[in-house]
Amino acid sequence: MSIKEIVCIGAGYVGGPTMSVIAEKCPHINVTVVDLNEDRIKAWQTDDLPIYEPELLDVVKVARGRNLFFSTEIEKNIAKADVVFVSVNTPTKTFGKGAGVAANLEFIGKCARSIRKYAKRDLIVVEKSTLPVRTAEALEKILHSGESDYHFEVLSNPEFLAEGTAINDLQNPDRVLIGGRENETGQKAIADLVEIYSNWVSPEKILTTNTWSSELSKLVANAFLAQRVSSINSISALCEKTEADITEVSKAISMDSRIGAKFLNASVGFGGSCFKKDILNLVYICRHYGLNEVADYWDQVVIMNDYQQTRFVDKIIATMFNTVSDKKITALGFAFKANTGDTRESPAIIIVKQLVEERARVYVSDPKALKQAKHDLDGLDVVLEEDPYEACKGADAVCILTEWQAYKDLDYKKIYANMNKPAFIFDGRNIINPQELYEIGFNVYPIGKAALER
Ligand code: NAD
Ligand code: UDX
Repeated sequence: MSIKEIVCIGAGYVGGPTMSVIAEKCPHINVTVVDLNEDRIKAWQTDDLPIYEPELLDVVKVARGRNLFFSTEIEKNIAKADVVFVSVNTPTKTFGKGAGVAANLEFIGKCARSIRKYAKRDLIVVEKSTLPVRTAEALEKILHSGESDYHFEVLSNPEFLAEGTAINDLQNPDRVLIGGRENETGQKAIADLVEIYSNWVSPEKILTTNTWSSELSKLVANAFLAQRVSSINSISALCEKTEADITEVSKAISMDSRIGAKFLNASVGFGGSCFKKDILNLVYICRHYGLNEVADYWDQVVIMNDYQQTRFVDKIIATMFNTVSDKKITALGFAFKANTGDTRESPAIIIVKQLVEERARVYVSDPKALKQAKHDLDGLDVVLEEDPYEACKGADAVCILTEWQAYKDLDYKKIYANMNKPAFIFDGRNIINPQELYEIGFNVYPIGKAALER
């Protein structure tokens, strides 16, 4: 089959950018992204996109109106599709069995039912969302139950993009992973999807596997990445006790080509909508199969991350003479990482909430995430101020929670001059030069290295 019509259900952080790049690279294919959320779809039709992602607007502008469309008309679009990508959210369940650990597959299930109901031909259903291993089996059952006359071939094609670098990750992926059934229809569908990606991805980077390997690999990739962050963060705690320096340790181990350099930056902990959710899901699946030791092993990655966040707040309080009550503390950064406006699972949320509980007067600054921060901190007495200099005026302490380039380039002399003394700075991302700030007059507390204090 030559694919002419792609439909993607879910116009979020994955569906929007992924489909924009497919449309950009495949002008001969129509790509329509559908969503129940009208506001989101409307925003995709303007230049004020619903998500902030560098270079995204440029790509959207190339294809929008040509072969890239955004719509709330789910029925009509499924009816004309050759391929339906499902890119809806799969958050951690908050209720019932598996609450707090398992993935909530309600939205995925609803998509399968809509596809079965509205399809007008045989089609390929692509799991783009991150899903528990063996979800395709459940989808096949839903899709082929009841009345439908059509054949639905389910493929797994997990997305590996990271926010902030999504466009480059999509245009130049390390690999594209496609899993399917090992029978004739499965292999045919895999070939169709390979053909789409071949428009811009070289063959050696397109990896095809069985369905279950593909589904599982996505959870495992995120677990491995998060594990590296937790590993280095665990060592940062030890560095703070021993005068070892985490940056030096990180460099020393990373020069071993077996270890490598990436994902070894100590931090206030990892955030984002994926790492915690996917590890908890992995843990849940392991327990389901009775693999309790395996579950405990991965669970520790999340436990360590929670510890790193709490440890950061504990250090602030202990350093500031055991009380932050009525002291002004400014958080520089609220997004879970730089170059995104996304705050899902951002360590900043926990840190700010704990500081508010301690009755600090908290000010939050961020170049892109204040709208989201307003929502996350709703009901709390926190001041949101985009200008970092204003936000730091009169502060007793500044904590850097997101590694925005703008925070590396700030005039810290000016900030120091306008702060209460003693002035504290807690660098949760190790982006400032501790010695330089100490010389300005700050008491400096990086992650995983000696404090410079007077
Ligand atoms: P998101 O919340 O930004 O977007 C999901 C969208 O799906 C929402 O706009 C929602 O309205 C829509 N939706 C839900 N149910 C629907 C339905 N029945 N019909 C139509 N629309 C529906 O989520 P996201 O961050 O794009 O993540 C989507 C999936 O991709 C998740 O499984 C996630 O784990 C995975 N993933 C995310 C990232 C990332 O960086 N955010 C990276 C790789 C994989
Ligand atoms: C992650 C995966 O990288 C991506 O492949 C997957 O598709 C979705 O989940 P994302 O969450 O967008 O992407 O960002 P990522 O760059 O992985 O960072 C996740 C968190 O780890 C951020 O809070 C980041 O600040 C933190 N991190 C990352 C560190 O603390 N130290 C590091 O060395 C790297």
